[in-house]
Amino acid sequence: MLRSIILRFVLPLALASAVVAYFAMPHIDQMLAEWFRGDIELRASLIEGSMEERLADLVSHRDKAGVRKYLSRATADKRISAILVCDSDGTLFYRTAPTPDDVSCSLSAAPNPGTSQIIRTAAGAMHVAGFQIARPDKPAFTVFVAHDLGFAASRQTRARRYLIAFTAVSVVVVGLLVVLIAWFMLRRWATILIGDIRSRRFLDDAHSSSLSMPVLSQVRQVMREIEESQRLEIDYRENWTSQALHQVVRDQLRSPQMIVVSNREPYIHNVGDDGRPLVQFPASGMVTALEPIVRACAGTWIAHGSGTADKQVVDIHDRIRVPPTDPSYVLRRVWLTQDEEEGYYYGFSNEGLWPLCHLAYVRPAFRESDWQTYRSVNEKFAAVVAREARESNPVVLIQDYHFALLPRFVRDRKPNATIVLFWHIPWPNAETFGVCPWKQEMLLHLLSADILGFHTRYHCQNFLATVDRFVECQIDHEHMTVTLQGHVCHVVPYPISIEWPPRQLDKLPPVNISRVDVRRRYGIRDDVSLGLGVERWDFTKGIVERFHAIETLLDSRPQLRGRVTLLQIAAPSRSKLPAYRMLQDQTLAELERINAKFRDDSWQPIILVDTQQTPDAVWELYRAADFCIVNSLHDGMNLVAKEFAAARDDEDGVLILSTFAGASRELLEALLVNPFDVSETAAAIAAAIEMPRDQRRERMQLMRRTVKENNVYRWAGRMLMDAARVRQRQALAKRDTHALQRLAAAGRK
Ligand code: G6P
Repeated sequence: MLRSIILRFVLPLALASAVVAYFAMPHIDQMLAEWFRGDIELRASLIEGSMEERLADLVSHRDKAGVRKYLSRATADKRISAILVCDSDGTLFYRTAPTPDDVSCSLSAAPNPGTSQIIRTAAGAMHVAGFQIARPDKPAFTVFVAHDLGFAASRQTRARRYLIAFTAVSVVVVGLLVVLIAWFMLRRWATILIGDIRSRRFLDDAHSSSLSMPVLSQVRQVMREIEESQRLEIDYRENWTSQALHQVVRDQLRSPQMIVVSNREPYIHNVGDDGRPLVQFPASGMVTALEPIVRACAGTWIAHGSGTADKQVVDIHDRIRVPPTDPSYVLRRVWLTQDEEEGYYYGFSNEGLWPLCHLAYVRPAFRESDWQTYRSVNEKFAAVVAREARESNPVVLIQDYHFALLPRFVRDRKPNATIVLFWHIPWPNAETFGVCPWKQEMLLHLLSADILGFHTRYHCQNFLATVDRFVECQIDHEHMTVTLQGHVCHVVPYPISIEWPPRQLDKLPPVNISRVDVRRRYGIRDDVSLGLGVERWDFTKGIVERFHAIETLLDSRPQLRGRVTLLQIAAPSRSKLPAYRMLQDQTLAELERINAKFRDDSWQPIILVDTQQTPDAVWELYRAADFCIVNSLHDGMNLVAKEFAAARDDEDGVLILSTFAGASRELLEALLVNPFDVSETAAAIAAAIEMPRDQRRERMQLMRRTVKENNVYRWAGRMLMDAARVRQRQALAKRDTHALQRLAAAGRK
């Protein structure tokens, strides 16, 4: 803007001044010359007037010595070159100094006041004023006073220089003033304009802006359209990559410090068999999604250091750079005591909130002591966030139900932080959430975030309904915002996903090789359809229901006995908790029972692998499977479903997906099932086994396109773009407040 002001105002002003000066200078010169000439004439006539009396006496007595003496005083003035006294017949009576021939008694003179003329002599220009003096009773004579005009010329030059310098300084000063005034006016104008748009978008109140001006309405409309089209462009952008995310962080957020907080850490160091630290990857959809984002943003990830060798590998600040093979961000570990882990993680998070939010019919357990520990651990993490924050306004991305209280605790310590909390699990309806004894405190803390993200619009609506039921606040259902004590919290659906292109594919052999390897490893014949289940051993995943579906299938279609096997990977999880131990016992019992019922010498219907697998091993299984079953009883998103599609670059394989998993809103080409309906799941397995190749290809192509377009960079990109908008608006609001305060102060004076 400054450049354009200089180009538009200052340069033309300077040019105009130069042109005016160029044409005006000869006139100014002439005016100055006339001033000096008038000045000299006046001086000459004063000199003559003062000498006339005495000179007439001396000339009448022909007293040359007297004349010389008398005139020597007058010619002491350096500007007078000479004074000539001439008799009336034109002969020289006396002159004070030699003069050029042109200056002699032959010049004509006028009666008082005398005439003057400019004589150009070899020594330069001279001004000669002649006076005829005729006193009564005395002989008439003439006096010529010659002034050196070199003096006047040098004064004239000096005056011209002063004038040019003065004009130049004036142009600069006026130019600067113009720039300053224009700058302030444009800024003020932009502030009014954008502030007005901001107030409309945030508060959805077209009449709320005291700053609206009719003249701006057109511009506002255009800006609104531009903003909307940018949003659409990004919404429908197919090409979200880590570079695009980088660009959002750099251009829209202006590279702030990014702090991610989660309970589960992305890399766990456990003591290996040889006593040395061994790095392991947790089975967590949240980590799977977040890791590529933090890599791309080079932020700081704060998480619970839960590995047995975690403390051995950190520096004195409890930090370690990860990923171990290609360090690109900082993992800051937080240590918890056993009591803290019991109360906060196992207790309130996983026996309280987890079953509360998942409708898997496991009763949540709420204990006051767990709640207190959950509270204090949230405060502990908030203190670490504040310590790790190098800036006053970092972007803090909080993950999941372990940290419902963190937004307020961080806000207390870092009021200018941009706080985003993403809730990775479902949000139940208001009645269900209402059983939580500390619901209000949780909701109030959550609402301190700037943005609250959920996987689906349905979860957002459940959350808003819960807030509506239990908190005194203002809810805008159309724009999905909650305003509480002046703070606006945006409730937005961001369906989480996986990275695209998936890194794992680079390392894996072609699908046919994976098929052969996996079948050989698990002893599965070539003519057997291979079904795959991959999850944590959790009661929300429907593992037992899946076994029952296999049983129902083999009962209802005996021809499929010996023709289908389910390979179930169940990574042990939260095994300390009774509900999880019970599930494990039940799973093993059902496995035993069903296998015993159907197995023959070379085949069994279910193979259970109850150890955690590396990501590479899991991706190899995806590629080897004929179908994958994700029949969660309730799931926020479920990334296994998306990973299965991403792994199948051969465009083969069938996905069976629960309608109660968030992924079912996007992967519509999967065979969708109600996981509580075992027969329906069994029928879906049969359909998957029998599905013709071209139909499998068509469905897989569509699902892969969806995952590619809605990848995790898009998930993070949309969230960070919204965070950037929140930051811009907050900055503008602050500026507006300052401006209003200044105006109010000026009004008081
Ligand atoms: C879910 C949660 C994650 C959690 C993961 C594994 O996906 O949303 O936050 O990390 O389960 O659970 P765990 O308790 O082992 O971290």
